[in-house]
Amino acid sequence: MDGAHKLTLGIDIGGTGLKAAVVDEDARMLTDRVRVATPIGAPPAKFVEVLAGLVAPLGAFDRVAVGFPGVVRNGRVLTAANLGNDTWIGFDLAQALEASLAKPVRIANDADLQGLAVIAGKGVEMVITLGTGFGTGLYLDGRLAPHLEIAHHPFRHGETYDQQLGNVARKEIGGSRWNKRVEKAIGNMRRLTNFDHLFIGGGNAKKIDFALAPDVTVISNEAGMEGGVALWRH
Ligand code: BGC
Repeated sequence: MDGAHKLTLGIDIGGTGLKAAVVDEDARMLTDRVRVATPIGAPPAKFVEVLAGLVAPLGAFDRVAVGFPGVVRNGRVLTAANLGNDTWIGFDLAQALEASLAKPVRIANDADLQGLAVIAGKGVEMVITLGTGFGTGLYLDGRLAPHLEIAHHPFRHGETYDQQLGNVARKEIGGSRWNKRVEKAIGNMRRLTNFDHLFIGGGNAKKIDFALAPDVTVISNEAGMEGGVALWRH
């Protein structure tokens, strides 16, 4: 089978749900998007078991692309702040999933992966995702830069971007205060990276209620699946 006809199993490991679907080379969904609650606090081996069960009914695929909510390098997890179990640190998730699913596996940070689906491939492009946490990805001329874990950097009043902008904070402080923080964070990202374009994804992107500058665009939450295909082209 040539590269153009390969089927990708896209897996999104989220802070609240594990999601998966099989997509074609154009990221068209060939199966339902299946979902199960994230077993927060469980050891990584349990995640692998739950994922294997989740994707079993989806049928055939040639390769796997995983978006992970932390820092991953060469398939190995370096941080997993939202998953509630320290044994993630150093865990070779790519190897464990390859053993379980019997197909090659590539893994990227979830925000890095989303951005791959939407960037134009020119200049400095950035993605932020507003969901359980605050995801970020940075690209130069279409190439993914090393992951900067901005989520855990100080933002306001001694709290991190994750703590101030994550879903828990949004529910606590309400939409209007949260929107002010998002606006401020976008300003910080602009000063930090001088992006040519910023994309905003994640489940809470639709909750933004202020006018965005012309170089800032909200993207669809489906970008994760397209990003999975792009990861195999990258
Ligand atoms: C993690 C990031 C991740 C983001 C979105 C943060 O808590 O540290 O690596 O991209 O959440 O899931």
